[in-house]
Amino acid sequence: MTLTDRVALVTGASSGLGQEISEQLIEAGATVYGLARSEDRLQALQDAHGDAFVPCPADVRDQEAVEAVFEQIKSDAGRLDILVNNAGLGRFGPVDEMPVDDWDVQHDTNLRGLYICTRTAVPIMRAQNEETGFGGHIVNVASIAGLIGNPNISAYNATKFGVRGFSQALMKEVRDAGIRVSCLYPGSIETEFFDRAGVDMTDNPLRAKDVAATVMHVVQAPENHLISEVVLRPLRPRG
Ligand SMILES: NC(=O)c1ccc[n+]([C@@H]2O[C@H](COP(=O)([O-])OP(=O)(O)OC[C@H]3O[C@@H](n4cnc5c(N)ncnc54)[C@H](OP(=O)(O)O)[C@@H]3O)[C@@H](O)[C@H]2O)c1
Repeated sequence: MTLTDRVALVTGASSGLGQEISEQLIEAGATVYGLARSEDRLQALQDAHGDAFVPCPADVRDQEAVEAVFEQIKSDAGRLDILVNNAGLGRFGPVDEMPVDDWDVQHDTNLRGLYICTRTAVPIMRAQNEETGFGGHIVNVASIAGLIGNPNISAYNATKFGVRGFSQALMKEVRDAGIRVSCLYPGSIETEFFDRAGVDMTDNPLRAKDVAATVMHVVQAPENHLISEVVLRPLRPRG
């Protein structure tokens, strides 16, 4: 799919992988609606990219706020070609010590937020398929933690395994409506994720720009070509 004049919504656009995906989509000719809570960072991206980046300050846990963003996209752009469900966070610790709030915030953001965005995007894409024969593309950012469980990341594992199951089901549910669903499973990426989680990053993480380049490859594939799952790992994780 060519990205010229396409319209994308990227959640978690204010930093890390979401910012890099947004900037690469803009570079390829798309208009990006960037959803996150940090208004100042979103504004800085608009200052850098002009009308190609539209700040959408919102919390993915807030259904009404998310739906208002979709209404804005419908009235401004009249279409939505790509949804990148990227917003997420990690809170780590032993199951018997981790606060229940840490479980909740990860499920509400990584899984429920992704579901809210997806359920709002699907009717728009179904209608586009009726008009043009191609509905759009939903890209879900899971994690290698969606494939492999490890000690002290149980809640994060549970959300990302959930993203995997949801993505597989969704892919089969909407592909005949011309909507592609892709799920990514990256290993560690050099972003603010680890600082925010309060843990050390691995020695040799993936670079956000390289993971974003994979997203670009996935969304730019020919329309009849569905790359449903991609696993990404650094070559030498210990450096
Ligand atoms: N870094 C890694 O090693 C790694 C590996 C595999 C997968 N991932 C996944 O990659 C995705 C992006 O993470 P990252 O590494 O780029 O980390 P990051 O730099 O911390 O970025 C996280 C993004 O999510 C947004 N976000 C968090 N909570 C939100 C909420 N309630 N509502 C709206 N936006 C929210 C943040 O924006 P605001 O704070 O401005 O709201 C920020 O833009 C996440 O889903 C993460 O699980 C990361």
